[in-house]
Amino acid sequence: MNSLNVPAFVQHTKLIEWVSEIAQLTQPKTIQWCDGSETEYQELIQLMIANGSMQALDPICHPNSYSVLSDPTDVARVEDRTFICSEKEEDAGATNHWQAPHLMRQTLNGLFKGCMQGRTMYVVPFSMGPIGSHIAHIGIEITDSPYVAISMRKMTRMGKAVYDVLGTNQPFIPCVHSVGMPLKQGVQDVAWPCNREKYIVHYPESREIWSFGSGYGGNALLGKKCFALRIASVMGREQGWLAEHMLILGITNPEGKKHYIAAAFPSACGKTNFAMLIPPQTYQGWKVETVGDDIAWIKPSQDGRLYAINPEAGFFGVAPGTNIKTNPNCMATLKKDVIYTNVAVTQTGQVWWEGLTKTVPENLINWKGKTHEGHEKAAHPNSRFTVAADQCPSIDPNWDNPQGVPISAFIFGGRRADTIPLVSEAFDWIDGVYKAATMGSETTAAAAGQQGVVRRDPFAMLPFIGYNMADYFDHWLTLGQKTHILAEANGHQLPKIFNVNWFRRDENGTFIWPGFGENMRVLEWMIARCEGTAHATDTAIGKVPRYEDLNWAGSDFSRSDFEKVTTQEPKQWKKEIQSHGVLFEQLGERMPKVLKQHQYKLLQRFSETETS
Ligand code: OXD
Ligand code: MN
Repeated sequence: MNSLNVPAFVQHTKLIEWVSEIAQLTQPKTIQWCDGSETEYQELIQLMIANGSMQALDPICHPNSYSVLSDPTDVARVEDRTFICSEKEEDAGATNHWQAPHLMRQTLNGLFKGCMQGRTMYVVPFSMGPIGSHIAHIGIEITDSPYVAISMRKMTRMGKAVYDVLGTNQPFIPCVHSVGMPLKQGVQDVAWPCNREKYIVHYPESREIWSFGSGYGGNALLGKKCFALRIASVMGREQGWLAEHMLILGITNPEGKKHYIAAAFPSACGKTNFAMLIPPQTYQGWKVETVGDDIAWIKPSQDGRLYAINPEAGFFGVAPGTNIKTNPNCMATLKKDVIYTNVAVTQTGQVWWEGLTKTVPENLINWKGKTHEGHEKAAHPNSRFTVAADQCPSIDPNWDNPQGVPISAFIFGGRRADTIPLVSEAFDWIDGVYKAATMGSETTAAAAGQQGVVRRDPFAMLPFIGYNMADYFDHWLTLGQKTHILAEANGHQLPKIFNVNWFRRDENGTFIWPGFGENMRVLEWMIARCEGTAHATDTAIGKVPRYEDLNWAGSDFSRSDFEKVTTQEPKQWKKEIQSHGVLFEQLGERMPKVLKQHQYKLLQRFSETETS
């Protein structure tokens, strides 16, 4: 290996020592200290094109845009290979995979030993959140994947300026990533190197991340799920803030009054579409703007309000289903400078995925690099675009504001064919935490494994909480309690909490609610609820709107369809609430009592309805 070649802009002794240690362990051929410059980006692109890992798209339709195809075995986050290695098993909790840190370190030492042979080791400095903001945190990702290095440049604030913040001794989260395919003598490189054996490991106490074997998305872009959710959730609990799997959007009414809303939906349930929503035509004068589409860091301020930032700087969105009708803002974002992964490409270099257009283009090469045949998907269901957030036409003027934006309401929503109504408002914070904690959703292609089965996905954070989930619920409850006191003293109110379900189906399995821009009708009601100007009816499971409480201007959604998406079927609900007990049992001793009592109260309400 060449020497460390530390550039003058890196002055942090501990960081240099750590890089040296990892280089000794992994034995790369060279080390490249990334500076985040355009020249560096272009060089990496050219390198990937030259070695057959990347294809440039049609420069007229897709300027500066590229397509990458992964290995067919490396296409999604691997939840069953994701570990939280806290010192004590109970601190990881029943919903996380755990291994004793000393044992995991032994395993990883074995795997990482010499794993970068023949490759370049990139040192990628990045900030989650605006560089220098008091809310932001710094990470350094060491990776042997140029794809990861360029993707990190789009997804985070990456580059030299990070070292100015780090100076000689400021803290950073060390993230080590390898595709796990050393180029030992005689080994030929492949377009998408990876290893069948995968480990995505977090050490919450020492706040380290180690990822081996995958080059894909959340497994490899370590600023995203590993840092901004798993490790940040641990930091947030210790320091009194929240790291959440939430989009953030701003809504301005025709009078110019603005509210920000944070919304949690499980992976591949339309967060990007919702964050970039365009209201129906009849909503003249209304504006919806995007702060973020996946992650929110939320901190209480002294005035009793909760301020949120989007720690990311780009969108890593699911391509299938995205089109000019479902998300025009996203399509405009994708006009240039995009890295696509696992989409289909025509022979003239146009991208395509299921749902982009009704007709399938001729001569399509599918995500496996083969001629597309009708019976298979052309694009992988979890194929993605990676693009800088500031290219989005609906980007909020405050998206980069280091202070964050004040949150008026939280929305929690799963993908459920039945039971859960279109919208309900929590009675209070505890009821809201209960709703979020017991959220269920049908699984999607974002994670490897079976799709379409309902699983509990509390706060849409099941795969992303870096500690015991019961403690996480407790953290939400405590933070609400403290913030409530501050808010009251300062003339504010705690954000309201809503539960939504855009995905109810009729007897034929067809979605009833049109979704997308039409979700604005629900948003308007929520905003009015926050301002105290809309009616809601109390039901056993929350406060709900009547048909006439929503604005239907320009809509032909009928009263009877509204009933279909809002009915509360007592039998289904009783079963639903009883099934919450499975999660509560699983969480054991640390499960907050107040939530268990709440379950009991809800069950009683349904027993009363049945007997009355
Ligand atoms: C994502 C996910 O990539 O949730 O955002 O899987
Ligand atoms: Mn996500």
